[in-house]
Amino acid sequence: MDGDAWNGMSSEYDDNVEGNFDPVISGYLSEEIKITSNLCKKIIRPDVRSTIIDMGSGTGRVLFALRSILGTSISYFGLDVSQSMIQLSKNKQSDMKDRDISFLNYDATNPAIDELFDDDSIKITMCMYNTVGVIDVTKRQQFFDNMIRLAGKNGLVLISAFNGDNFSFIAPKMYVPMKKMIKQIDDDSFDEGKLAFKNKLGYYSQWFTKNQLLDLLRSNVTPIPIDVSLNKHVHTFGHIFSNRSVL
Ligand SMILES: C[S@@+](CC[C@H](N)C(=O)[O-])C[C@H]1O[C@@H](n2cnc3c(N)ncnc32)[C@H](O)[C@@H]1O
Repeated sequence: MDGDAWNGMSSEYDDNVEGNFDPVISGYLSEEIKITSNLCKKIIRPDVRSTIIDMGSGTGRVLFALRSILGTSISYFGLDVSQSMIQLSKNKQSDMKDRDISFLNYDATNPAIDELFDDDSIKITMCMYNTVGVIDVTKRQQFFDNMIRLAGKNGLVLISAFNGDNFSFIAPKMYVPMKKMIKQIDDDSFDEGKLAFKNKLGYYSQWFTKNQLLDLLRSNVTPIPIDVSLNKHVHTFGHIFSNRSVL
């Protein structure tokens, strides 16, 4: 999906994601931020400059949350291919006390991305809420390789992805509550064969099995489950993947 498609969804994004009170969505997001911030704390050192780069940052949800947990001594960057998403992030930040997050309208699959981050800080590159599944398939490996290269050996790559190993159970529980944003759910929207959610308006999100994602990330680190309780049962709705062990 390109930036134009996301421009059309940007005005609904916050209500359907961060502002969604559905227990699955809110449970996923709070676990995602808790695990991500804990992993960041293991990498960040008080004596060394650190940079967090959110690839496909949407309206800034993840960076605003991390800044409030990790503080303002870190440099934060949000990159998004959608101009509207970036504008909404900037609007939100203009109402805040701290205005230190840089939001850039940028295609994070660009192999020249290193030019933006030519410094010696420790870099944590991240991509949350299954954003890896909406990256153009022909540029997907480039996107992962950009994240891995920017992080280097001292940094860290973090990916939050929906659980493709249990697609048929989980996918309806994620997308039905976001129907206002995705606008349409068709009879064949849940494609179990291709592990993808799609609709006839052009929304497409690929899901991955654990092994597929580890291959793309060139990692063998066991991912951390994003567990959400539903009707008194706990289900793994997604995982946080990393490119190296920091436990
Ligand atoms: C599902 S939203 C997730 C937003 C955010 N990561 C979050 O967790 O709330 C996916 C975002 O990825 C962005 N995106 C898609 N392809 C991109 C690319 N090649 N480079 C940068 N951003 C991209 C879209 O514009 C959209 O804002």
